Amino acid sequence: MAKLYERVLDIAVQRGFLLPSAEIYGSMAGIYDYGPIGAPIKRKIQNLFREIFITCPGFLEIESSTIVPKEALVASGHAASFSDPLVECKKTKKQYRADHLLQEATGKSWEGKSVEELQKRLKEHKITSPDGGELGEIKAFNLMFGASMGATNEKNAYLRPETAQGIFLDFKRIFLQNGSKLPLAIGQVGRSYRNEISPRQGLVRMREFSQMELEYFFNPKKDEMPGFEKIQKKEVRVRLPGEKNAIEVSLEDAIKNKYFANQIMATLIYWQHQLYLRVGIPAKKFHFAILPKDGLPHYSQANVDLEMITSYGVIEGSGTAYRTDFDLKNHAKHSNTDLSVKLPEEEEKIIPHVIEPSLGVDRLFYCLLESAYKEKSPEKEWEWFDFPPAVAPYLAGVFPLMKKDGLDKLAGEIVQTLREGGVECYYSQSGSIGKRYARADEIGVPYCITIDYDSKEKKDVTIRYRNDGGQERISISSLADKIIEDAKKGKVSLKC
Ligand code: GLY
Repeated sequence: MAKLYERVLDIAVQRGFLLPSAEIYGSMAGIYDYGPIGAPIKRKIQNLFREIFITCPGFLEIESSTIVPKEALVASGHAASFSDPLVECKKTKKQYRADHLLQEATGKSWEGKSVEELQKRLKEHKITSPDGGELGEIKAFNLMFGASMGATNEKNAYLRPETAQGIFLDFKRIFLQNGSKLPLAIGQVGRSYRNEISPRQGLVRMREFSQMELEYFFNPKKDEMPGFEKIQKKEVRVRLPGEKNAIEVSLEDAIKNKYFANQIMATLIYWQHQLYLRVGIPAKKFHFAILPKDGLPHYSQANVDLEMITSYGVIEGSGTAYRTDFDLKNHAKHSNTDLSVKLPEEEEKIIPHVIEPSLGVDRLFYCLLESAYKEKSPEKEWEWFDFPPAVAPYLAGVFPLMKKDGLDKLAGEIVQTLREGGVECYYSQSGSIGKRYARADEIGVPYCITIDYDSKEKKDVTIRYRNDGGQERISISSLADKIIEDAKKGKVSLKC
């Protein structure tokens, strides 16, 4: 039987969620296009991130360039440290990631370990290539895509490996334009690029992908988070280093026990917890893993990774990093620019500290597909998606019973009214109503509206709820408000 991820990816391509990029030229490994059904879902996930992370007062969003000068990525440490451990099979000359070979042999993650450590362990576990060949020495393979900007053959720029760097490069000007005070939070949603050695697992390891990041700049002597007292008793699931299972911990205890560095980190983690729930990922399907000191990215003093439980196994959905003053300090040094700031409360200028939640959009999108996927059942003889209305590709499908007798005209007017009322909907007039309901379920549309002969007389329509197929009559004049209200409540069954 096909694995769940194989089935979900297959359906995603068949039904227009995803398209293999440049398919007529054989596609490109690690790159997908979002189709007409997937693109609005992705946009809604990104907008939920904006709603939770960026619309608070003093939180700003930018859109920086995706091409970054080489010097900036030398300063940030990416040119030297942003690499994967590559090892070659002496027999076949095929290349592999040393940490993946070790993971397959030992069942545990070796991501982020040093080349020396991995080399030692490969020998210790007598690991060969999958073809049984002897392995060579591990080499660090830089993951950035180099670019030659202008009429030169020299690689003088890179496609950004994270959206974060644009925020650090723009920080000083934004700080001065926004009252010269801290805290200051700057977010960005956009594409990043990594030349993965072995892109695999569909949307999990991609060469071009989308991130949602926020850099929270603060005075390290003032690491309280405004409003923290309102959420301090809230619980999240935390996995400690070396442990298999997650435990429930309140935010205040997570700080007391030094799992989270401070209130800022705890709040930013709690917001991720909220985002995942609103996207529709069940609480038991994700938790926050505290990274051990020897597994931290090169810029981080402490990291908490959101881990998602999927049919691929555990995958990383986000990282929350305490980046300290690492980036600003290094950019100041390499660019010879003063990036310290004068704060009213401090005598001396300081370099702000930063905590960064960095979320992968595509992985969250995949996790949503997998958790919303429903198999055929006696009630529904088709596979369908139980998306929360907040992330469904459309809120409603509008169907005239017949494409004649003025029903199609009335349906067109209803589509127009719904769109003006803020309901994203699509229109379909062919096939039996049963088939149109099934097609709507297959892409996870929560509400279907049917226009019949009574609709002309009585000025009402049938609304059908996706999850239980329950139906009721509703006046055309109140339809848009009713759908928006049900969507806000997450109501997807008539009987609930
Ligand atoms: N900004 C962190 C990352 O992209 O991994």
